[in-house]
Parts: sequence; C-alpha cells; structure tokens
Amino acid sequence: MSQEHADKSGFDTRAIHAGYEPDPTTGAVIPPIFATSTYKQDGVGGLRGGYEYSRSANPTRTALEGALAAVEDGERGFAFASGLAAEDTLVRGLCRPGEHVVLPDDAYGGTFRLFDKVEQVWGLAHTPVPVSDVDAVRAAIRPGETKLVWVETPTNPLLNIADLEALAAVAHDAGALLVVDNTFATPYLQQPLTLGADVVVHSTTKYVGGHSDVVGGALVVRDHDLAERVGFHQNAMGAVAGPFDCFLTHRGLKTLGVRMDRHCDNAERVVEFLAGHAAVTDVIYPGLPEHPGHEVASRQMRRFGGMVSFRVTGGVEHALAVCDRTRVFILGESLGGVESLIEHPGLMTHASVAGTDLEVPADLIRLSVGIETADDLLADLDRALSGG
Ligand SMILES: Cc1ncc(COP(=O)(O)O)c(C=O)c1O
Repeated sequence: MSQEHADKSGFDTRAIHAGYEPDPTTGAVIPPIFATSTYKQDGVGGLRGGYEYSRSANPTRTALEGALAAVEDGERGFAFASGLAAEDTLVRGLCRPGEHVVLPDDAYGGTFRLFDKVEQVWGLAHTPVPVSDVDAVRAAIRPGETKLVWVETPTNPLLNIADLEALAAVAHDAGALLVVDNTFATPYLQQPLTLGADVVVHSTTKYVGGHSDVVGGALVVRDHDLAERVGFHQNAMGAVAGPFDCFLTHRGLKTLGVRMDRHCDNAERVVEFLAGHAAVTDVIYPGLPEHPGHEVASRQMRRFGGMVSFRVTGGVEHALAVCDRTRVFILGESLGGVESLIEHPGLMTHASVAGTDLEVPADLIRLSVGIETADDLLADLDRALSGG
C-alpha cells in the first residue's frame, strides 16, 4: 500500500495492508519469509532495493516495520528480537553515561531490572516515580541530565494511568523525550505519538503478536532524526528480529483491531461479574468510573483493554487457590494472547519487588482476559472463586 494511501486509511486497513505491496514477481499477498542472510549485488555497491545483509535489513522485517509505523502513526518502525532488546537499543542509542531517566515506580519488572542492573552499571541513573502523578514526574526530572521520561500506561499489574499529553509537555519543557511502552494498550486503543510522545516501545510478544507463539519487540519513532539514530543503533547493536519471527508478528498485527475489541468486550463482562462477587474485595480496571485514572484513560484510549486485576477475601491463601482452580484461564506469566491467563503477581511476575516500595498486595490476582466465549470465562472464575 502506498504511503499516501496508508496515511489516510483506517486502523484495520493499515494493519492489514501497510508496509507491503503484493510481491512483484509472484503476486504473493503475504510477505514471504526471506530466510537469507545476504543478497547478490549487481556489481560492487549495486544493491537491489537497498538489501545487502539481513542484520541491516530483510524484506520480511521491512514489511513488519512499515506496518508498525503505520498503525502507531509514526515516522518509522523497527523490529527487535524481544521487547527488552528494543528497550536496550533505544536507551543506549539515545543516552550517554552520566545522564538520567525517569521511570514508572511500577514499571514491568524486566524493564526495571534493565535500568537497575544493566544501564546503571553503564553509568545511566534512574528515578522511579508514580507516573499517574504529573507533579511527581516533573519533580524527578534533573534539568540538563534527564534525557528520557519513560512511561507505561496502563501499568502492570495495578493498571495506573499516565496522562500522556501532560507528560509530553513536562518532558519537552525539560529537553527530554517522552517514551511510552504501549504494550498493554496497543496502537488500536491508544496512539501515544499522536498525543505528543517521541518514541513508542512494544513487547510485540503480547497483543501485537497476539497468539503466544513468538517473542519480539518494536520501537516506533515520531521524527526523522530519531529514526536515523535508532536505525543506526539497530544495525550497530544487532538485536534484530529474524524473518520467521517477523512473519508471525506481522500475521498477528493484521487482526489486532478485531482481537482487541473482543478482549475489551470480554474484560468488561469479567469486570462486571467480579464487581458483584462476594469473594472479591476490589476490581481494578481503568474502564470503571471509580478508577482514579478513568477520566484520563477515557480521553486517550479508545477502550480500556483486556487486563483486569482484582483482590479477594481470604488473603494470599485464597488468591493462590483461585489461581490454582481455574480451568479455562491458564496459570501463566505473559499476557495478550487469544487464550485467557491468570497469575498471582506477588509470587510470579512481581516476585522481584517483594519487600520494596513496589511490592504488590498478596491478595491480588491479574487476568489477561482472552477472546474465548465470555460465558465460559465467567463460569470458570465463578467455580474458582467459590472453591469448586
Ligand atoms: C509492558 C512490558 N514491556 C516490556 C516487556 C518486555 O518484553 P519481552 O518479554 O518481549 O522482552 C514486557 C514483558 O512482559 C512487558 O509486559
């Protein structure tokens, strides 16, 4: 699809067509898996279509990267071997030792570990703050030193909401860039670059891939200068996505819109059910009017996503029993696949923050609500909560 056409199309049309024209040789409608490391040159320096070596560029990856840029409304997309590989490339590409970043105090644990145990050793300082508090973010910025304000929204697992327009202004006033990890919301529900962010980060392992069958990451940038810098570091650091992984991720991306609508429909049913259950003490979902971030989320998100957290009566023992008793919800880490998952953040995804200020409640359960038949999900939760 031409760039001009892609720019004017709706989300699903872009997700399906952007980044790729049917193959000129065969007419293949889907980007082939180019399992090649190198390319025949038409004489020295005579590259065909710019391809010389697959770390630098591969046509299967080019197609995915074009589609990612189109769905995020960005200048250029970049595909990586994992979400963390994308993050590391971005941070070490844009920051220098002696500089500083502001982080969510409830960032994904692997992101926090990357900053705390890897980038810090390299000389990059960080300050964790509650990103739903704009003043706290402003106060954490070190003028002249802070290069990135890093945000997730909704956060994991407490589903806090950051006001992206307000934080873009705060970051830009201080000469910093706003980076948004859009993994939970996805570009279907929220487009941070259109709200003033400079870079979007994804673990495409989650909703973008959508089928729990591939690990990947992505960056999408807002302007040409950032595209040049990230592109240079993607090639120089080499943590690229391989062609098979790009194929799977791109296949997932094409159905992102319809899947997200079903994730949201099912999550809303689950939230309604949990809110009326006697064994549930609190339901956390940005779509609920009483959620502290509801007003901001309503402004910047199309809908409220497929992640739901809740607390139960009976403390940690009951929470663990519920996780153990579901049959349709699979006990497991990760999120964003078609199948529903249940987990206990305190002892699973967030075990590494136990005993710190970031510790999550012991009676908290997190659901990644999948796209199965909603009635089956409700019956499964009912049985698990009732001890059946
Ligand atoms: C919000 C978020 N960002 C980044 C990552 C890291 O991505 P990956 O596991 O693909 O490296 C994850 C993984 O769980 C995540 O949930």
